[in-house]
Amino acid sequence: MHPFSILATCSLLVANVLAHHVLHEKRGLSPADWEMKKNVDLSSVIPLKIALKQKDLHLGEKFLYDVSHPRSRNYGKHWTAKEVAEKFAPSQASVKAVKDWLHGSGINPMRIKQAQSLGWLHVNTTVREAQTLLKTEYFVYEHTVTGIPHIACNEYHVPIEVSAHVDFITPTVHFDTPMNIKHRRSVRPPPAPPAKKRDRQIRRRNVRTLADAQAVVDTDGEVPMQRAGVTKELGTSLGSLPKQGAILADNADVGGRLDRCDQAITPACLRALYGYNESMAGGNAKNSYGIVEYSPQSYNQQDLDKYFSNFSRPAMGSQPVLRPIDGGVVLPANRSFNINGESNLDLEYAMAIVAPMKVNLYQVGDDVQGASFNNFLDALDSSYCKFEGGDDPTQDAVYPTPLEGYIGPAQCGGFAASKVISTSYGYNEADLTPAYADRQCAEYLKLALQGVTILYSSGDFGVAGNMGRCIDPKTGNFTRTNATDGVFNPSFPSGCPWVTSVGATEVPPATNVVQALASNTQPEVACETVIRSGGGFSNMFEMPEYQKVAVKGWFSDHPPVYGASLFNNTQKTRGFPDIAVNGANYVITVGGNFSLIYGTSASAPALGGILTLINEQRLNAGKNTIGFINPVLYENPQMMKDVVKGQNRGCGTTGFDATTGWDPLTGLGTPIFPKMLEVFMGLP
Ligand SMILES: *[C@@H]1O[C@H](CO)[C@@H](O)[C@H](O)[C@H]1NC(C)=O
Ligand SMILES: *[C@@H]1O[C@H](CO)[C@@H](O)[C@H](O)[C@H]1NC(C)=O
Ligand SMILES: *[C@@H]1O[C@H](CO)[C@@H](O)[C@H](O)[C@H]1NC(C)=O
Ligand SMILES: *[C@@H]1O[C@H](CO)[C@@H](O)[C@H](O)[C@H]1NC(C)=O
Ligand SMILES: *[C@@H]1O[C@H](CO)[C@@H](O)[C@H](O)[C@H]1NC(C)=O
Ligand SMILES: *[C@@H]1O[C@H](CO)[C@@H](O)[C@H](O)[C@H]1NC(C)=O
Ligand SMILES: *[C@@H]1O[C@H](CO)[C@@H](O)[C@H](O)[C@H]1NC(C)=O
Ligand SMILES: *[C@@H]1O[C@H](CO)[C@@H](O)[C@H](O)[C@H]1NC(C)=O
Repeated sequence: MHPFSILATCSLLVANVLAHHVLHEKRGLSPADWEMKKNVDLSSVIPLKIALKQKDLHLGEKFLYDVSHPRSRNYGKHWTAKEVAEKFAPSQASVKAVKDWLHGSGINPMRIKQAQSLGWLHVNTTVREAQTLLKTEYFVYEHTVTGIPHIACNEYHVPIEVSAHVDFITPTVHFDTPMNIKHRRSVRPPPAPPAKKRDRQIRRRNVRTLADAQAVVDTDGEVPMQRAGVTKELGTSLGSLPKQGAILADNADVGGRLDRCDQAITPACLRALYGYNESMAGGNAKNSYGIVEYSPQSYNQQDLDKYFSNFSRPAMGSQPVLRPIDGGVVLPANRSFNINGESNLDLEYAMAIVAPMKVNLYQVGDDVQGASFNNFLDALDSSYCKFEGGDDPTQDAVYPTPLEGYIGPAQCGGFAASKVISTSYGYNEADLTPAYADRQCAEYLKLALQGVTILYSSGDFGVAGNMGRCIDPKTGNFTRTNATDGVFNPSFPSGCPWVTSVGATEVPPATNVVQALASNTQPEVACETVIRSGGGFSNMFEMPEYQKVAVKGWFSDHPPVYGASLFNNTQKTRGFPDIAVNGANYVITVGGNFSLIYGTSASAPALGGILTLINEQRLNAGKNTIGFINPVLYENPQMMKDVVKGQNRGCGTTGFDATTGWDPLTGLGTPIFPKMLEVFMGLP
């Protein structure tokens, strides 16, 4: 080789190393419950993922209204996964800028892969390489409650010419999924015996914690908050579990008893409250409903069997269709409320409402590390296609095996997601960086464009965040208790405008549901038993067009007593929830017992079932699915029964009040199925 070219290569490398790096993301908050422990072994390998800037995202809202606004001529004309992938695919310039940077920093192009969704570049690097690339330093953090390790940095930098092409890079400042390199045996195969031992120790510690985390039930149904949340934090750092209440006798006889809906909610009570019936369900092959669970939460089939035999004949003997993602497992034995409570609840109600239709269960993450919403979204738009046994060719698009590094119109991310997807987990918005939350919110928009309805429960702590935490006004840190000066702590993704956020109501004691319904009054109030319906205003996401009239109406007709010191009252920001469904006194079966539970965790899967019945009718009539429903909801408030009583206290305040019209705890109210059906069947 000519010496000159060697020289040229050297100076290129030097130039790249010296290129001016700029700060790309920095964690504002010290994450609740994580402690920095030690340095990371520089030779360990981490899966670096670079989220590329997507093009035309600013047009997303317009595209979405085109297919989901009731007055749009193109209502229901959803996009294909391929159209979505191509429309928003990062520009060639972005892909090239990032690849050039990696290459120039000594990373062989063969090591770089582009996800099928086209939006991400993946490269396995050593920590040493990543530290140089990102001018940062990684540390091992440990979760103070569960001992789960995680690697992260405080801030990271990228070259100035790359910065405009990148949304964010993981693993860096984010704490959504515990990233523990010790478990990633596939990434870094260590010498077998010591590694196995280490691995086992960590597993065992988790398992012991799980056993320790048995729900403690007292007669009022209150569960000590710290304990109630331990399991979900352990697996995923996501959200709060539903709360367990009284255990019912096996012969409590609450089945068809509408006179007891103030004490025990069953599928029969939901049918009475919202006006649908079993004849609305069916088995249209194009219809589908998916429930997302994050390990270690998992359902127990024996519990489901027992539940259905009492409360849903059509669902008797049926099982969810398991779609495991990233090692998703259903733990074999019945464990405890904290392991089975959430999944049993979601599936028992989802399956009872839509039976005989099957329900898809997206079980995300293994039982050691858990996973995050992004793992799920990745699966919908890339890795799931390749996952062994992941796709059902009768339901899901099947794509050609992608060529490494290939970019072009023929390649497409995405497989057909279930038409309605309900998730009963959530973060505090303040836990996430804006770039990260924006990116994820954009993914929901893309699913919405494809005709998928995305439901998230709005949270169980009123205006406070998970575990009742509020934001310290001075530091931005979370306060551990319900401090009197705490700032309201909105949840995510409920604050993302492209999901439908579901709050909780309850039938107050001594309410006769049958009489109330006969006299056409609202028997329900905002849920204040055990849990408080999550609601409020995002600090990150702008108020979407579809809710402007309703939310501004609330500000002018019912001026809130709190000001900017407690919540974002600019009237420029997304208010949530959008709608509410009962979330108190649900009868479920768990650990072999009938038990009562509470939470917006119940509201979301119940609504998902109801919307799936509407999809069934539309599909039977040769129409498309309802997809993103918010524009139709806000244009047709008569489809909901207004909820005008109750509060969502938190952060040392009584929270907001349920009032006439939309409000930030019950949204537009509870569904009136016959009216919803009429409106949606009237749309093209
Ligand atoms: C990173 O390593 C894992 C485990 O070996 C492998 O499955 C994955 O495909 C690798 N990713 C890339 C981009 O090479
Ligand atoms: C379950 O069904 C059995 C048989 O019909 C009935 O005796 C029992 O009371 C039911 N249990 C509950 C909790 O409703
Ligand atoms: C936030 O809390 C952590 C402890 O959890 C503390 O170390 C840090 O200094 C606090 N940040 C500010 C800005 O007060
Ligand atoms: C309030 O919301 C708006 C719009 O989403 C945002 O621009 C602003 O930064 C928020 N204010 C605070 C204090 O978070
Ligand atoms: C089931 O109920 C019995 C009797 O109330 C109780 O002892 C047992 O702990 C319960 N099991 C679970 C898993 O909650
Ligand atoms: C759950 O496990 C307990 C023992 O731990 C057992 O007695 C009970 O029958 C099991 N219940 C179910 C529904 O599997
Ligand atoms: C904080 O408030 C929530 C309700 O918003 C309540 O459930 C919880 O028990 C409170 N926690 C503490 C430590 O007071
Ligand atoms: C079931 O509900 C639908 C829609 O509200 C209604 O048209 C139908 O009459 C109901 N059927 C029965 C048997 O109640």
